[in-house]
Amino acid sequence: MLASTIVTLLNEQVNKEFYSAYLYLDMANFYADKGLLGYENWFKVQAQEEMSHAMLFRQYLQNNGHSVKLGAIADPSKEYADLKDPLLDALNHEEYVTKSINTIYEEAQKEKDFRTQQFLDWFIKEQGEEEMNAQENIQKFEVFGTDKRGLYLLNQELQTRVYSPPSLVL
Ligand code: FEO
Repeated sequence: MLASTIVTLLNEQVNKEFYSAYLYLDMANFYADKGLLGYENWFKVQAQEEMSHAMLFRQYLQNNGHSVKLGAIADPSKEYADLKDPLLDALNHEEYVTKSINTIYEEAQKEKDFRTQQFLDWFIKEQGEEEMNAQENIQKFEVFGTDKRGLYLLNQELQTRVYSPPSLVL
């Protein structure tokens, strides 16, 4: 059995990952409304990834004999100022998720919970990639996205992203 503090944090993380999916789906909707279907695709795939993260946290709790509490998912909708705004928000959000996962890791260290630390190792690495991807989207937009032709090509590139399930299997 895991320490109750760890169980609470892991349950909260299930909610945060589902919220992330909701947030990215809202961003996908924003770009769909603008006719940028490549950006829509990129964020739809991102939402799928987030749901898979939620399912991994859920499975880990279950595998350790803990019941999973599903809380309400907050409304993610926001008025975005321009095409770059969701990209900045996405990076902020990933930094927030990284902090959240680091907090669970810290708690697991305090509790000498080596199993949870090992489980979280995959997410620590994943967060590095997620932040890098978010940063890359901002940078590409700044370099190419302000020009209509550049934006057209960038949108086409983002259209090619496909979902692949996480490499972590529980
Ligand atoms: Fe599940 Fe984007 O962190």
